[in-house]
Amino acid sequence: MNTRRLLPLAVLLVAIPLAHGGAVLRVQAGQPGARINPVMWGVFFEDINFGADGGLYAELVKNRGFEFPEPLMGWTTISPSLAKGEVTVRTDSPFADANPHYARIVSEGTAPLGLSNEGFRGMGVRKGEGYAFSAQVRAVSGAPVLSVRLYGGDGAVLETVELKGLAAGWQRVTATLRPADTDARARLAVLVIGRGSVDVDFISLFPERTWRNRPGGLRADMVQSLADMHPGFVRFPGGCIVEGSVLSRRYQWKNTLGPVEGRKLVVNRWNYEFVHRPTPDYYQSFGLGFYEYFQLCEDIGAQPLPILNCGMACQFNSAEVCPLDQLDTYIQDALDLVEFANGPAESTWGARRAAMGHPEPFGMKMLGVGNEQWGPLYYERYERFARVLKEKHPEISLVSAAGPEPADARFGLAWSRLRELHADIIDEHCYAAPDWFFSNAHRYDRYDRSGPKVFMGEYAAQSVATVNVKNRNTLECALSEAAYMTGLERNADVVRMASYAPLFANTEAWQWTPDLIWVDSLHVALTPSYCVQNLFARNRGDRVLPVELSQEDGNSGRGLFASSVLDEGTGSVILKLVNANHADSRLTVRLEGARTVAAGTITTLEGDSPQSTDSPASPGRAAPGERSFFPSGPVFDVMLPADSFTVIHVGASK
Ligand code: AHR
Repeated sequence: MNTRRLLPLAVLLVAIPLAHGGAVLRVQAGQPGARINPVMWGVFFEDINFGADGGLYAELVKNRGFEFPEPLMGWTTISPSLAKGEVTVRTDSPFADANPHYARIVSEGTAPLGLSNEGFRGMGVRKGEGYAFSAQVRAVSGAPVLSVRLYGGDGAVLETVELKGLAAGWQRVTATLRPADTDARARLAVLVIGRGSVDVDFISLFPERTWRNRPGGLRADMVQSLADMHPGFVRFPGGCIVEGSVLSRRYQWKNTLGPVEGRKLVVNRWNYEFVHRPTPDYYQSFGLGFYEYFQLCEDIGAQPLPILNCGMACQFNSAEVCPLDQLDTYIQDALDLVEFANGPAESTWGARRAAMGHPEPFGMKMLGVGNEQWGPLYYERYERFARVLKEKHPEISLVSAAGPEPADARFGLAWSRLRELHADIIDEHCYAAPDWFFSNAHRYDRYDRSGPKVFMGEYAAQSVATVNVKNRNTLECALSEAAYMTGLERNADVVRMASYAPLFANTEAWQWTPDLIWVDSLHVALTPSYCVQNLFARNRGDRVLPVELSQEDGNSGRGLFASSVLDEGTGSVILKLVNANHADSRLTVRLEGARTVAAGTITTLEGDSPQSTDSPASPGRAAPGERSFFPSGPVFDVMLPADSFTVIHVGASK
């Protein structure tokens, strides 16, 4: 997309003469209202669209342990015509019980014979950078050499390392590979050279340059895109993945701890959820497990918000429920999680955390009970969780579910029952057309101020329809989300948190669109919706400033939307302004109660048209560029470009 450049400073200077008529925004700059939750704007992470394996988790080898039901999925036997021998999958004497399958390469030595891995729809490698190869290897017969090679997508050899003197028992071998070229579709091969047989398992390749250079860590560019947003919280690990299509496939956090070799693979529910987007090679390795989620939160300064299964499988699938008399296991999981996150290093679960390298508590303050549940079966389960957790851990705020829709009968019932149960925070979800978001920008103005608070835990404007593969990340969608977010912000006394969903998608292997951030094996692309989230999160402010917006009817488009907050640290007034008209719109801003104003900044997100699909920030890091802004006084005019979102900071004093 040719995004229209940010308007030149001279135009945005806003020293435009004060106009008569037009829209007027009155900001009670001298009367700050509700305090804004410091963790108001966060992110929702789910292993959907190859978000974890093939995404955030930087492992480049798919099916590294040969544990997919088709053990050689992702692998190709390399057997040139001259090669004599075979590759078989075996389970006798594996190196780890949780990883029973391994491959045996038997070569007669006539030519190199072995396996090559395709990565997660392409293995991205960069010229000259270090890649940490490791594998479990056992020499069975002969004195073969193991050749580890990186091939480019065109078959060119990018790097070769030979491993000799292989031991007769299982042994972890390592090597550093430095590809001669950058390639988005590289392959990793392990080949036996010479006569002999070798067992291989847990074949792994990680970039050395991961987030914080942690071996076996997370993709640095993807984490950076999160860190750039300064999210207040990270909700994890989902999403429907928490529930599982049946209870045996639910997310069980205890199975995601300890050495990665011991984390048992589970099929990803998004593997088979959508017949129109099948992803047969989608499994959860749990290399990104609960410890890593907590660590990620700590790294980027976000509060952890884990969501646990409440004894209910996905109600869109089997709707299997755990009988109430067996619910204690689930409740115990929640209690143990609190201990894992916050308990002393000497406690049972605190010791597990400490053994993984983090003796200090993670400081978890919130916990979700169930994902997108609804109906009486949920409320009776939530009630039992809440009774125990509130008694043992009153310091933890519980997040409960309001179902999948923002206004249907299930939603109404959820609010009335959860209100009776004195729920802390209710998680509302909404995937709807941009119109819904524009027309619900005042939804929370009328909410009951007593009782549970709101967590808008999943929302995203859908350009076509929910779960439609043609949905795109249009500017219109982003603007409708921004308009809606002005409503969340104005009502920050009742809306405590919000997160867009889903977060990440692999361009080659997605199931759900739209998504906030798109990635391929080498790149990260930010969407207009990302820019909106970023601008809200980085301009959170501390107190809501009441606003009153009067605007003329008859504009082409949906009008203007506004909110304002006070940054107590700097004394700045921050304005968030959406112009959903298809023409530039003049707005007079009246900072009431401010005697003097100081220069500040202005940032504008705009595009060629509301249907523009990519972002001015893409593939750059953060939001559209920030410019200086010189208000003419406490009353000033600003020209808002057609179909745009603008954030203005000005210094103001009484
Ligand atoms: O965000 C995608 C899915 O939408 C989530 O997994 C689920 O909670 C919702 O239905």
